[in-house]
Parts: sequence; C-alpha cells; structure tokens
Amino acid sequence: MSHSQHKQATFQYQDLGPASSNSRAEILAGLREERKRISPKYFYDDTGSTLFEEITRQPEYYPTRTERHILTEHAMDMAAAIGTGTVLMEPGAGSCEKVRLLLDALKPTAYVPMDIAGDFLQRSAAGLQRQFPWLHIAALRADFAAMPSLPQGLPAGPRTLFYPGSTLGNFSPLQATSFLRHAKRLVGDGGTLLIGVDLHKDSATLNRAYNDSAGVTARFNRNTLHHLNRILPADFEPLQFSHVAFYNSDCHRIEMYLESQTEQTVTAAGEAIYFSTGERIHTEISCKYSQESFTALAAAADLKVRNCWRDAEDLFAVFLLTSGET
Ligand code: AVI
Repeated sequence: MSHSQHKQATFQYQDLGPASSNSRAEILAGLREERKRISPKYFYDDTGSTLFEEITRQPEYYPTRTERHILTEHAMDMAAAIGTGTVLMEPGAGSCEKVRLLLDALKPTAYVPMDIAGDFLQRSAAGLQRQFPWLHIAALRADFAAMPSLPQGLPAGPRTLFYPGSTLGNFSPLQATSFLRHAKRLVGDGGTLLIGVDLHKDSATLNRAYNDSAGVTARFNRNTLHHLNRILPADFEPLQFSHVAFYNSDCHRIEMYLESQTEQTVTAAGEAIYFSTGERIHTEISCKYSQESFTALAAAADLKVRNCWRDAEDLFAVFLLTSGET
C-alpha cells in the first residue's frame, strides 16, 4: 500500500486478486470442455491492457470515442442527476481515462478504481492522483465478478458505480443481471449506476470494429495465449491460432474466438490439450443492446433507467440507473 504526500487526499492500493491456483483450475476446466473457452478476463495482463488501449484508438473501434464524446458533452447533466459528493466506484477501471471526464463536474468524495491487472491499475491510479491531487483514491486489484467487498474507511454518503465502455456487454445477459444485482447491493439505498452500453447497429460497422485493419484486436486476442503460457504455465504457440470475430445478429452479440491453424497438442499446467485443425477457443462475447432490451435487463436486477444520454448517430448510450424502490 502506498500513500501520496497530498494534504487531504490519500492514495491506497490493495490487492484482492484471485489466487493463481483458482485461475489455473478455471482455465483448465474451460480448455477441457467440448467447446473450449477461456474467460475474457485473461486478456488483461499488462500487455493485454496496453493492447486494449491501442484498440480504443483504432479508427474502426467507434465505442470509446463515441462514449467519450457523450461523457464530455453531458458531464454537467450527469452530475446534476447523480449529485456531487458521492463515492465513485469503477470496476475494470484499466487506464482510469474516462472518469477524468466526469471528475470536475461530479466532485466525488472518493474514487475506487478496481481492476484485475494490478500493475496497470496502480500506474493509472497514480497518474490520476497526480492530475487530481484533491481526490481520495482507493485502488483495488480485484475481480469484480467475484464480488469483492469495498476497502475500509471510505467516506459515508451516497455511492455511484461507473461502468463505462460497454464492458457489461462482455457478460451474458444472465451474468450481466447478477453483476447489476451485486452493483445495486454495493451502491445501497440512494445509490446510482452510470453504465455505458453499445447499441444495436448494422453488422458491417460491428464486424469492422472487431477486425481492425491494423490487426490490434487480433494481437489482443492472441495475447491471452501468451498470458496463459506465463501463468499456467503452458506452451501455446499463439501464431498457430488465428483471430476470428463476427457479429451474431440473432443473439445481438460479437463472438470472438482463437482458431487452431493446425492439428496440435498443447501442454497446459502439465495437461495435454488436443486441437484439431479449425477448432476454436471461445474467448469473448460483446453483447449489444437497444434502449428497450437494456431497460429490461436493468429491470431484471430491480433497477430503473432514470436517464439515458446518446450520441447523434445512436451508436452508444450512457444510462443512469437507480434502485427499483426510488
Ligand atoms: C472491454 N470490452 C468492452 C471490449 C468490447 O468491445 O467488448 C473488449 C474488446 N474486445 C475486442 N475489442 C474490444
């Protein structure tokens, strides 16, 4: 844990990351299945987090710039609807970039960024502290899906959970509902959720966004195998797998896979994993919503849509949710 020198603000870092033995068991279970899969959380080691930042700068990847535009344009309205002086939490905070667009308007009493990639989070949160010396930051390395409890000593008062980037889309609707239920419990009575959501649109735009011409998304996808090689350990040859991503318009989601280019056997944590040519590992879904389908998802977690801010082209939306009772 480290502390900054600023008079009022404090900077804390706490590691609640999963034990590596849990990760190993989870990864192996996924690779043993008939339809092999790896959780998307294994994209995000230090390199994966950096590659994701690079994806967000690709011309084809519209979500980040569109959401930034919405946040910049409507920060004051959002602060008016949420109220200043809340404890602001952000699961999967990564680079802590988008929150910068809200801080001056929202003036939270504390900011709690959480991420699975600890070193990356620590560097981003420290950078944020330099830019906003007045802000109390309590960074937490944690898997939010594992429902961690919050650090001790946070200021009292209303809580807001900020979940931008359409990261909720990386969960199935069922997982997203349980995430929202957990988030609702965490913010408590009078709390709010500010959530970025990628909207339904034509398949061509979506297919381009997940198959950028510079190949950054492909590198990001393959990096999972480098990550597994290190943490299991395993002997994947990432270049023997190709990046596959397409929009499944029936399910309103992008599906992403790594496809074996050849017949091969990989050793993962001492276990032989066989791949036939063309066999795929499922690495990610990215669900897209409409105003109606997202409202229904929120309702399943007993949350109500109080506001919705969208861009002029209806590519992306930022929803403000409150407890069903309020
Ligand atoms: C983090 N998440 C919202 C991104 C998405 O668009 O689903 C991850 C990503 N995968 C490929 N490109 C970006």
